[in-house]
Amino acid sequence: MATNQVGPITSTLAGSPATVISFWPMPTLVIPESRYLKSFVAALREGFHRDTLRPETADSIEDVASDPEGFLQSQLHPPMHITLPNGRLGRAVPSTSLWWVEGRDFLGWANVRHDLDERLTKVGGHVGYSVRPKAQGQGHATALLAASLLWIGENLPLKKVMLTVSPSNAASIRVIEKNGGVFTAEVDHTWHPGETALQYWIDIPEKT
Ligand SMILES: CC(C)(COP(=O)(O)OP(=O)(O)OC[C@H]1O[C@@H](n2cnc3c(N)ncnc32)[C@H](O)[C@@H]1OP(=O)(O)O)[C@@H](O)C(=O)NCCC(=O)NCCS
Repeated sequence: MATNQVGPITSTLAGSPATVISFWPMPTLVIPESRYLKSFVAALREGFHRDTLRPETADSIEDVASDPEGFLQSQLHPPMHITLPNGRLGRAVPSTSLWWVEGRDFLGWANVRHDLDERLTKVGGHVGYSVRPKAQGQGHATALLAASLLWIGENLPLKKVMLTVSPSNAASIRVIEKNGGVFTAEVDHTWHPGETALQYWIDIPEKT
């Protein structure tokens, strides 16, 4: 964990030694809520991309900024179909969007696919994640992925998950390996001709 990661400042209430108050919010994995939308839009404007295969544009950011509550609904109830990177419409597998937040600040997210279809079995896998630029390099992706694996263990019948990453994405490879990722294959990238993707599998931690 990086040394500049913020931690909680805690104190014990006088006369109540069992009660501990946290004065500093801790990053947490949550189901998306309205209270984080302002910060989410700020993250998009700062350079946060919802899809590593499809960079945001001024129009895509404005779509969210002009109807944040509508965007929130699409997070809570993902559509049955998605526009693929080649522009075609594809069937979406069931998925859950989980946001990594601190106080009211949106820091990053994970998208958890409950299942793999033919497309995701090659590139995409079960879990995708991103951290907003200003929060990178502080251990957030590592903690966000660890929390997502716990969430999967508690909510889905998966015993292990696949993640894919570009060989040039050294930070993400490190994040996956720090979470127990085992490299299994390098495959041709579906959407980037001439490029490859690395496939990793991670065992889901046992419930305690
Ligand atoms: C990849 C990404 C998620 C990393 O987020 P982050 O919060 O900065 O990651 P962390 O701080 O938890 O950890 C990054 C690790 O990679 C290491 N790292 C960063 N850049 C590196 C580089 N160029 N070479 C090698 N290691 C690198 C860091 O030192 C750290 O390891 P350490 O804790 O052992 O020092 C973030 O850069 C991001 O959102 N990128 C865009 C979207 C993306 O690529 N998502 C992943 C798709 S598979």
